Amino acid sequence: MVVPGMMRAQSHRVNFDAGWRFMLGDDPTAFRPDYDDSRWRELDLPHDWSIEGRFDSANSTGQQEGGLPAGVGWYRKKFVGGYRWIEFDGVYRNSEVWVNGHYLGKRPYGYISFRYEIGRWLTGGENVVAVRVDNSKQPNSRWYSGSGIYRHVWVEKDGGVDPWKVVVTTRVLSSDEAVVRVSGMEGRVVGLYDATGKKVAEGAGELRVSRPHFWSPGHPYLYRLRVGGDEIGVGIRSFRFDPLKGFFLNGRPTKILGVCMHHDLGLLGAAVNEPAMRRQLKVLREMGCNAIRTVHNPPAPELLDLCDEMGFMVMDEAFDMWRKKKNKYDYSLDFPEWGVRDIQDQVRRDRNHPSVILWSIGNEIREQFDSSGISIARKLAAAVRELDTTRPVTSALTETDTVKNFIYRSGALDLIGLNYNQDKYDSVPVKYPGKPFIASETGSTLATRGHYDGPADSLRKWPSAAKQPLVGGNPDFTVSAYDNVFAYWGSTHEQTWKVVKRCPWVSGLFVWSGWDFIGEPVPYPWPARSSYYGVVDLAGFPKDAYYMYQSEWTDKPVLHLLPHWNWKPGQVVDVWAYYSRADEVELFLNGRSLGVRRKGGDALHVSWRVSWEAGTLKAVSRMGGKVVLEREVRTAGKAARVELSVDRKVMGEMAFITARVVDATGQLVPDAGNELVVSVDGPGEVVGMDNGYQADLESFRGSRHRAYNGMCLVVVKGKKKAGRVLVRVSGKGLLPALVELVIAG
Ligand code: GAL
Repeated sequence: MVVPGMMRAQSHRVNFDAGWRFMLGDDPTAFRPDYDDSRWRELDLPHDWSIEGRFDSANSTGQQEGGLPAGVGWYRKKFVGGYRWIEFDGVYRNSEVWVNGHYLGKRPYGYISFRYEIGRWLTGGENVVAVRVDNSKQPNSRWYSGSGIYRHVWVEKDGGVDPWKVVVTTRVLSSDEAVVRVSGMEGRVVGLYDATGKKVAEGAGELRVSRPHFWSPGHPYLYRLRVGGDEIGVGIRSFRFDPLKGFFLNGRPTKILGVCMHHDLGLLGAAVNEPAMRRQLKVLREMGCNAIRTVHNPPAPELLDLCDEMGFMVMDEAFDMWRKKKNKYDYSLDFPEWGVRDIQDQVRRDRNHPSVILWSIGNEIREQFDSSGISIARKLAAAVRELDTTRPVTSALTETDTVKNFIYRSGALDLIGLNYNQDKYDSVPVKYPGKPFIASETGSTLATRGHYDGPADSLRKWPSAAKQPLVGGNPDFTVSAYDNVFAYWGSTHEQTWKVVKRCPWVSGLFVWSGWDFIGEPVPYPWPARSSYYGVVDLAGFPKDAYYMYQSEWTDKPVLHLLPHWNWKPGQVVDVWAYYSRADEVELFLNGRSLGVRRKGGDALHVSWRVSWEAGTLKAVSRMGGKVVLEREVRTAGKAARVELSVDRKVMGEMAFITARVVDATGQLVPDAGNELVVSVDGPGEVVGMDNGYQADLESFRGSRHRAYNGMCLVVVKGKKKAGRVLVRVSGKGLLPALVELVIAG
């Protein structure tokens, strides 16, 4: 196994996920070595007990955390010794760890990686590690956190290099030469290998690489540094932020085209799952996204590995609060004691990832509004710089009055991050003279996939102002996907992208948000339980704005037509097309032309106002008179069958299957809500299902679920055996569909 960034491919570092026992509830004696846990549930980590629960407004977490249960839980594992360290990638939250009854310590922050030395407490025989996790004090988060040991656990033997001490930096001297500097290896000789396995340099400090392959999102080239049995991925890249010209990567002006991502994986909850993270990134990459902001906390290390490998730049964020709280029991209670320690552990863990280009010391921190922001910002920035000076320090601010913004005034930031406030970007060079700038959070545009409320050009602010209840919402908790609804502090996707695009000093943006996530279901009350902000819904199905970004952020020709074509006679419907690599689009209804449209000025879409009649709507994009693409949407008839598609037939650990309810001609039935039932033959099982609807209270578990607006996701897991897995999806009155997956031996 070769994993870039951090050291993983190590003979002395062993995954410790398998064979734990778990109890939901508390027992103060459960740390004891001889405690009888034989009746506890057996499971493998990573594990999130919240996602196993039911959505219920009575749960103490509340709607902003998705209404899933929290509480206290215990984990225990018996093992044979021989290890020096135990390392946890993340436990939400307030973990306490004992080995053979010895208390090793606690870690309040639920997103930080930590480790304990255990060697001296181990015996030659059976040992036991016990972990108490306390997420009972609620509310403690503004979004879904999950509960438990939701990331991987590792044990390490002596003898390898210490991954938290090793520092690898790269310096580009010219297009022909780079230096890879390695420290923290106690003088050991390391070899640097290119992607074909050829050794390109060797040494014990500075390694010179001639004619280097540079790492970038479009070309995520990784070298491998080897020492003994250890291996680390190395990306050679240079970057800089310019106050007037924006961001440069490897000398080339490059816009940071990013999205904000919370850590949950939809129906899998917070439990780390590499295939699901890879899928998220793949969907985003196809949109043209080249950067991720890990809101508002350190991510799972595997996310950074994937970003190194797949080519995403990362704004690695530490905190959502410092001393001043956003919720009664949140991390503000722990920050005074742990803040510096946590951010330093984050930097130690993440600094060798080429994907990481920015450290963010906090999001919308309340201390920006008073003078305590000055000293804390300086302290945190200094803590970061003590360990890494190769990346700028930033913070996602909201206060635009520089006199009143004490984090800005601290002078501690290398890069100004500002959330929203897109009408201020034009004046950035005047406002923040000499400072580079990034739109650290944008949009907060709201949408439900496949739902449209016209007219498309009437913009709605939901809610309209601070502390205002929502007026005029839909009874079914849907939000229009025309890019015409946003929270009052935000904008449409188009509004902000237009400004970012025309202002060279704006280094880039991070759209709020890439995918929907559980919790923060602005603008609706219960039963809404997940967010409306995503460009992609919780199940992983793109909403329409995805194609606006794709038409702007990629080179591929795009033509996307919306909405669906099932309306009522006499209804006037706004038809939109996003397109690129073409100079015009013509729309036809049942063969009649409704006119040719061209994007004028800074327009990002074209539109027609159409009096609806049943039939076929067709868009044709042309370049210089030649047809580039055609797209069609027909009025769907009755739901007739299920149609399945799968991300890949040869499945690894997991397969993500999209089920669509279609009519007899194969047209998606845009309001189909049929219950779909899944059965699996062979060495596989259903993990769960989700339809992306934000107010759906059906459990994600189980093998039946209603489709929403014609679609549903089915996640199937292989049972670690080679073979063929046959997945069948049926529904009452529908012709079922089958898909065959292969688990390679
Ligand atoms: C921002 C905040 C995010 C999220 C977003 C929703 O102000 O940084 O965490 O709450 O608003 O619009």
